[in-house]
Amino acid sequence: MNSVAGQYTRVLSGMRPTGRLHLGHYHGVLKNWLDLQHEYECFFFVADWHALTTHYDDPTIIPNSVWDMVIDWLAAGINPSEATMFIQSRVPEHAELHLLLSMMTPLGWLERVPSYKDQQEKLKERDLATYGFLGYPLLQSADILIYKAGQVPVGEDQVAHVELTREVARRFNHMYGREPDFEEKAQQAMKKMGKKTSKLYKQYRKTYQEQGDTEALDAARALLESQQNITVNDRERLFGYIEGGGKVILPEPQSLLTKASKMPGLDGQKMSKSYENTISLRDDPAKVEKALKTMPTDPARVRRTDPGDPAKCPVWQFHQVYSDQSTMDWVTEGCKSAGIGCIECKQPIIDKVLAELKPIQDRAREYEEQPDLVRSVINEGCEKAREIARETMSDVRHAMSLDY
Ligand code: TRP
Ligand code: SF4
Repeated sequence: MNSVAGQYTRVLSGMRPTGRLHLGHYHGVLKNWLDLQHEYECFFFVADWHALTTHYDDPTIIPNSVWDMVIDWLAAGINPSEATMFIQSRVPEHAELHLLLSMMTPLGWLERVPSYKDQQEKLKERDLATYGFLGYPLLQSADILIYKAGQVPVGEDQVAHVELTREVARRFNHMYGREPDFEEKAQQAMKKMGKKTSKLYKQYRKTYQEQGDTEALDAARALLESQQNITVNDRERLFGYIEGGGKVILPEPQSLLTKASKMPGLDGQKMSKSYENTISLRDDPAKVEKALKTMPTDPARVRRTDPGDPAKCPVWQFHQVYSDQSTMDWVTEGCKSAGIGCIECKQPIIDKVLAELKPIQDRAREYEEQPDLVRSVINEGCEKAREIARETMSDVRHAMSLDY
């Protein structure tokens, strides 16, 4: 299904292997992936080369992080029979596409990606004035385009990278998608759809071209997708022909914006490894319980008899993630009147977090005990991903006249 038609249902996303995953990842990313895997053809990969762009001076931490990440995905419920999981560096075609795209990507496009300067400033202790770091978003473009993915679930901070990917794809198609006899081939392809359909297609195309009507564009695309009797190549030509350009070799993806996670850390800031305020998915229950029991509360509640204010308490943010309305009413009332103590207030959260982690940890243990199983899930995923990547590269090489 390696065609433009596939792009509307194919989802791709990656994560950099930076250690064990925590509840912030679970609520912010993984729960979303769990839903997507039922709805779309999903590809999830460990972006190990991306980790190297910032950790090139100490790559020894990457291997463990890679396998920890895969186990955490599986433990969270990413299902190998529904989603394809793989490791970036095991599909070397990503690197080839990155190289070829680098030939035609204006330097300014990369220098202007906001994360380039932001991260350099934020990670002052690292020297990120490297060629690899500048190319980070373009490597990401290659990751996406090589699967002709239609939707890319990402957080706010990654939207600019998907936008760059769209621009790169557009430029690529414009430069290399022009077959000398494109117009003629598009006409022939149209005939193959039959009189009625091709008439409808022409109408949509005209409406789109004359009025920029995106509904007509969508309708034309849907029409093409439903055609059984045209080849993948013809379909891609006709996709390109709607907009007037050449054949679409690398379709433009869309970002599927993931809502920012409300998951707070143990100190009330965003949960993040760099703040050391995390609960990892595989922390043992006693540790989790202790971490929650000792987390700070409203500083005004020095003694049990001092009233407090949930708005000033990180525990309250946990209630907003985990508790129902009646529990939250109980907290508000009990806190403001000093009717309940903080340990009492934390108990429902401890129960909820432990219950949430239980099935995850049970599954994690099963996979930890079967490293061969984990490896075979990844081997299969890499094989499947690679097949698609190879096909795309053969289209790309052909388009760039590299198939001598
Ligand atoms: N850059 C992403 C991040 O830091 C990870 C990533 C790499 C990615 N390649 C991707 C995400 C392709 C989506 C699609 O989170
Ligand atoms: Fe925080 Fe609950 Fe204690 Fe109030 S009672 S300060 S909300 S932990």
